[in-house]
Amino acid sequence: MHIARFCIVPLTILLIFCEARKYEDAKQVRNFRIGDPIELKIVSDRLEFRDVEGELPRNMFVKLPQLAHLKITGNISYIEPGAFSGLHALVDLDLFQNKIRYLLNGTFKEAHNLKYLNLGENELNYLEPKTFNGLTSLETLNMSFNRDLKVLRDNIYYGLSNLKKLNLIDCGLHDIHRSAFYGLERLESLDLSKNNLKFVTSENFDDLIKMFDLNLSYNRIQQLQANSFSKRLYALRRLNLLYNNMNCTDAKRVAKEFSSTVQVIYRTPDGAGCKAV
Ligand SMILES: *[C@@H]1O[C@H](CO)[C@@H](O)[C@H](O)[C@H]1NC(C)=O
Ligand SMILES: *[C@@H]1O[C@H](CO)[C@@H](O)[C@H](O)[C@H]1NC(C)=O
Ligand SMILES: *[C@@H]1O[C@H](CO)[C@@H](O)[C@H](O)[C@H]1NC(C)=O
Ligand SMILES: *[C@@H]1O[C@H](CO)[C@@H](O)[C@H](O)[C@H]1NC(C)=O
Ligand SMILES: *[C@@H]1O[C@H](CO)[C@@H](O)[C@H](O)[C@H]1NC(C)=O
Repeated sequence: MHIARFCIVPLTILLIFCEARKYEDAKQVRNFRIGDPIELKIVSDRLEFRDVEGELPRNMFVKLPQLAHLKITGNISYIEPGAFSGLHALVDLDLFQNKIRYLLNGTFKEAHNLKYLNLGENELNYLEPKTFNGLTSLETLNMSFNRDLKVLRDNIYYGLSNLKKLNLIDCGLHDIHRSAFYGLERLESLDLSKNNLKFVTSENFDDLIKMFDLNLSYNRIQQLQANSFSKRLYALRRLNLLYNNMNCTDAKRVAKEFSSTVQVIYRTPDGAGCKAV
């Protein structure tokens, strides 16, 4: 029996090896295309692939319906829609540190039990509208450090009706389209820090009626219409505006305009954060 280097099945109850005879010299996921879908004799509910490159073909995991935790890192460049078909028990999917450039609708269909998805540190620059449709259990989506993302287009998060936390830190964002966050009616926390946003209006966040934590720190925001924010974002309790292009006089005024239920952070305890004035 050979143990494939890239197939790590952590110990659960007993020592479990990954029976990967067919793939013993496969370093690239592409090679999986040659054979049937991955089939492991004994399988735990976790599977981790490291150092893989190439494309994830569809139906790759159809024979592993018990899988709950899947982690794939390396240089994956593309995921064919249907790659995760059959993973009805999947709860978390880690795809961070790959080279995924775009995602198409249907990519995650059938993963209706997925709660956590990490797409951080990829090279995403395009998301087809409704890419995440079907992920009705998803609670956390991490898309941080996709520096080529730049623009959030309409309807990309459509269908994520249970999402609570969305991270978009350091994604080069300079533009958020009006309905980008459409459908995220349960979102509680949105982190947009370390982007290049100059303007945000409350319309950008129209649907986020449950959002209580919004982080806009490290952007280039000069002005904010506190009134319209207060009117629409009923649940907002904390707004982080540290390190934007506002001088302290303006920042203070904006903070005052918010109702007292919203904690507006624009200055650190030592006075840094807003531009001194
Ligand atoms: C991924 O790509 C980088 C550079 O493009 C290369 O240095 C690295 O070895 C690749 N990793 C794997 C696992 O193939
Ligand atoms: C999803 O993509 C397919 C194939 O490209 C396309 O025919 C379909 O209209 C798209 N569906 C949605 C909801 O955008
Ligand atoms: C999001 O992903 C980034 C990059 O992979 C990672 O550093 C960060 O810890 C993740 N954050 C969460 C909340 O999972
Ligand atoms: C954004 O601000 C919130 C507080 O509003 C904080 O909990 C979170 O860690 C911040 N994120 C980053 C990346 O600094
Ligand atoms: C602060 O910035 C605003 C607009 O950006 C400007 O009108 C105002 O004069 C500035 N305040 C001071 C004290 O420099």
